[in-house]
Amino acid sequence: VGVGPGDAELMTLKALRVLKACSVIAVPDSGRDGEGLAESIVKQALGKDLGQKEFLRLKLPMTKDVNELRKARKLAAKNIVKRLEDGTDVAFVTIGDPLFYSTFSPLVPYVKDACPKAVVSVVPGVMSVSATAAALLTPLSEASEKVAIIPATYGVEEVRDAIEEFDVVVLMKVNRSLDRILGLLDEFGLSDSAAFVSKASWPDEEVVRDVRKLRGETPGYFSMMVIRKKEGAEK
Ligand SMILES: C[S@@+](CC[C@H](N)C(=O)[O-])C[C@H]1O[C@@H](n2cnc3c(N)ncnc32)[C@H](O)[C@@H]1O
Repeated sequence: VGVGPGDAELMTLKALRVLKACSVIAVPDSGRDGEGLAESIVKQALGKDLGQKEFLRLKLPMTKDVNELRKARKLAAKNIVKRLEDGTDVAFVTIGDPLFYSTFSPLVPYVKDACPKAVVSVVPGVMSVSATAAALLTPLSEASEKVAIIPATYGVEEVRDAIEEFDVVVLMKVNRSLDRILGLLDEFGLSDSAAFVSKASWPDEEVVRDVRKLRGETPGYFSMMVIRKKEGAEK
C-alpha cells in the first residue's frame, strides 16, 4: 500500500480502506533516518481507527551486499507469511508508490516463494516526484517533453547524458551527490533552471530555487532536484 509522500491527506481513499481492514501493518525498516515516516503517516491517517493493529517492522537494509539482502528479504517474507498462514491479511506500506524505488517489489518473489497461495495486490500511492513538482509549482512535463528520473546511484556522466537528451531531469536521493550536481549545472549554465525540494508535502517542506546556495550543504535523505531546461507554460 502506497501511503503517499508525507502529508497524510495525500493517502488515497483505497489505501485508507485497506489499512483499516488489515490487522497487521508491515513497515520496512532500513535503519535510516526518517524511515518511521510510513508508520507515522499510517497512524495519522487511521486516527481512532488504529485500534489494536500490529506494526510488523521488517529489517530491510539498504545495502549492495546481495547475500545480506537475500537473507533480510527471506526473513521479512517469513514473518509476513506467518501472519498470512494464520489467516491474517498483511498491508505492507511504503512511502509514495510501492512500485517506484521501494523495498516492496524485491520482496514479493520471496513471499510468493514461501507461500505460493499468497494473493498480492498493489494500492498505488502519490509519488514523491508528484509532491515535489507540486511544491515547486513546476510541470514535470508538458506537451511532448521527455522526462528522466534518475536515482543517486548515477555517476555525473549519466546525469550529463540525461541533461543532454531530456527536457526535464529529476534527481532522486540528490543529497548523496549534491556538490557534483551543482558543478554540472554550472557547467551547463543550468543553475537557474534547477530547483531543490526536501520533504515535499511535510510540514517542514523546504524549497530552494537558487540552488547555488546549497553548495557545501548536506541535505537529508528526503530530497530531490528538478532540472527543467525550458520554462513551463505557466511561467
Ligand atoms: C527509496 S525512494 C522512495 C520513493 C517512493 N517510493 C515514491 O514513490 O516516491 C526515496 C527517495 O525518494 C525521494 N523522496 C521520498 N519522499 C520525498 C519527499 N516527501 N520529498 C522529497 N523527496 C522525497 C527522495 O529522493 C528519497 O531519497
